[in-house]
Amino acid sequence: MKIGCPTEIKPQEFRVGMTPDAAREAVNHGHEVLIQSGAGVGAGFTDEDYVAAGAKMIGTAEEVFAEADMIVKVKEPQAVERKMLREGQLLFTYLHLAPDPEQTVDLLESGCTAIAYETVTDDRGGLPLLAPMSEVAGRLAPQVGAWTLQKANGGRGVLMGGVPGVAPAKVVVIGGGVVGTHAAKIAAGMGADVTVLDRSLTRLRYLDDVFGGTFKNQYSTAGATSDLVREADMVIGAVLIPGAAAPKLVSRAQLSEMKPGAALVDVAIDQGGCFETSRATTHADPIYEVEGIMHYCVANMPGAVARTSTQALGNATLPFLLNLANKGWKQACEDDPHLLNGLNVHAGQLTYYAVGKALGIDVISPSLALKS
Ligand SMILES: NC(=O)c1ccc[n+]([C@@H]2O[C@H](COP(=O)([O-])OP(=O)(O)OC[C@H]3O[C@@H](n4cnc5c(N)ncnc54)[C@H](O)[C@@H]3O)[C@@H](O)[C@H]2O)c1
Repeated sequence: MKIGCPTEIKPQEFRVGMTPDAAREAVNHGHEVLIQSGAGVGAGFTDEDYVAAGAKMIGTAEEVFAEADMIVKVKEPQAVERKMLREGQLLFTYLHLAPDPEQTVDLLESGCTAIAYETVTDDRGGLPLLAPMSEVAGRLAPQVGAWTLQKANGGRGVLMGGVPGVAPAKVVVIGGGVVGTHAAKIAAGMGADVTVLDRSLTRLRYLDDVFGGTFKNQYSTAGATSDLVREADMVIGAVLIPGAAAPKLVSRAQLSEMKPGAALVDVAIDQGGCFETSRATTHADPIYEVEGIMHYCVANMPGAVARTSTQALGNATLPFLLNLANKGWKQACEDDPHLLNGLNVHAGQLTYYAVGKALGIDVISPSLALKS
């Protein structure tokens, strides 16, 4: 198969769909890998790295789209990219179609087959191609929160780990899933006094078993949250209710009870945020102040560490990518129902129920698409 990887063109996106390592693996499986010249630069990969891996460098996105059987990307195709997709071409990338009718219509009209990273599943009920980005955002949260706490940035001027004779920062993590667990681990590693809140007893039991000595955990009620937030130097928002907007767990009124200069890091901002006063920010201007409390609400946190994020995403996508290339999408999806769950669009028809419901578009079952 000819696998094409264009340069990402969404603003502030520095990741790339294939690392040189992924390109080498695909080449070793007998595929031709076409990388747009410069595609890896934002993530620290040169054209020479790709050439050494056996890939062919291509001058323009137009040529990549025209030549490739499968396009591998990171972000959803932008309008100009969607015009370059064609019937029968396979697209493997993040799509997030439910809130994006324009993209959905364009993909349907293109006649391509689109498999979305975010809806591929695994045996444990997880989302294996979303998890690496949650791991990155979770581990980044205490790092950016610690920076936000610095006096020059408007913060309380508190050091995460304290020093001998001075207490460490108090960090509260709301939501103990992938983001929350990684955030808590790093915050504890920085020496902070960390408590994780979650609503799932199963999750709390897991956190207690595995991290009992490293950080505390508590059942998430409005009362417990309010008490902990009042005393906190940093609060990290990491909740998720799948398919729903994030619940607002800290109100504007609660800010006045908090310590002045405390930091709120709302990782759940991509689902609307879990603090009432959260609004999405960018890496260029990441923080703002409300009622004396500093807010960090960057919606694409992994972009700050594009190299690590690209490698983490590449590790997760590679086995699926190889299966798609080796077997063709139909056989690969027939053999792996979790990959079939990623199928969102095929030959002008929507194949993902939740997207159809959100956008009021008819859906055919993915297994029917396999037979077409
Ligand atoms: N900003 C970014 O760049 C970025 C990057 C990656 C992920 N995210 C977002 O981070 C959020 C968390 O993702 P995740 O992968 O950790 O999800 P997850 O499903 O692994 O974990 C969410 C946790 O929240 C818990 N929860 C739900 N309601 C709660 C409540 N009221 N109180 C306490 N806990 C509650 C759940 O029990 C679960 O354990 C999502 O909104 C995700 O989209 C943002």
